[in-house]
Amino acid sequence: MVKRPFIVGNWKMNLTLKEGVEFARQLKNNLGARRDVICGICPPFVFLKDVCLALEGSGALVGAQNVHSDKGGAYTGEVSASMIKEVGCSHVIVGHSERRHLLGETDSFINAKVKAVLATGLKPIFCIGEKLNEREEGRTEYVVKNQFKDGLRGINAQHVREVVIAYEPVWAIGTGKTALPSQANEVHSFIRELLTAEYGKDLAKGMYILYGGSVKPENAKELMAQPEIDGLLVGGASIKFESFWDIVKAASTPCNNN
Ligand code: PGA
Repeated sequence: MVKRPFIVGNWKMNLTLKEGVEFARQLKNNLGARRDVICGICPPFVFLKDVCLALEGSGALVGAQNVHSDKGGAYTGEVSASMIKEVGCSHVIVGHSERRHLLGETDSFINAKVKAVLATGLKPIFCIGEKLNEREEGRTEYVVKNQFKDGLRGINAQHVREVVIAYEPVWAIGTGKTALPSQANEVHSFIRELLTAEYGKDLAKGMYILYGGSVKPENAKELMAQPEIDGLLVGGASIKFESFWDIVKAASTPCNNN
């Protein structure tokens, strides 16, 4: 079965509510009846409901950028998976490098979040990737393997098929330095091997592994041409509808004429 390209925008802490809803309307209009591509956006928490409403019926997915691992309770400022589901989301980004490295999230906390997301019936977009010094020291595979193993610890095959993995080399995020498509493909291939060893070949083949890190309209096609890259997680270039849509077009089948 051929996988549809999977393109997700991560707005991070950007845009106003008005701009976000306008973006969602444009996405819905441009998608029309197209179902040859899976695409969606991850707005800040406070925009989720309005963006979900604006995208209703479009087939586009909406995801949160973070979640807490507990079901509820005294966690001032936090949001649970069931709250995210209630407003209409289907996905949640978990383990983004900005949360790992700027906000100190550990692998065990990330693992608890992945489990909470799955238990609620949502799909995690589980991010892993090495820092520049780790790549330079030849430790990319070691780091990626540990993040993979720790983040997915205790998750069985039935649940893991709901996980979308995003390989995001930290040195390529927001820096303008994209990993060479071949470099990204090598790590994707390694992640696929880890999935195969843990869950078997068929399941590993069917799972989505996205690439993220300075994706732009100019490099989207070449990245997507790599055999192990199933989709893209786009930060900076997802804030303006035009560039996001150019990425969707570049990444999807060449026959579209939008
Ligand atoms: P970027 O961010 O596209 O701005 O590099 C990607 C991400 O952080 O998901």
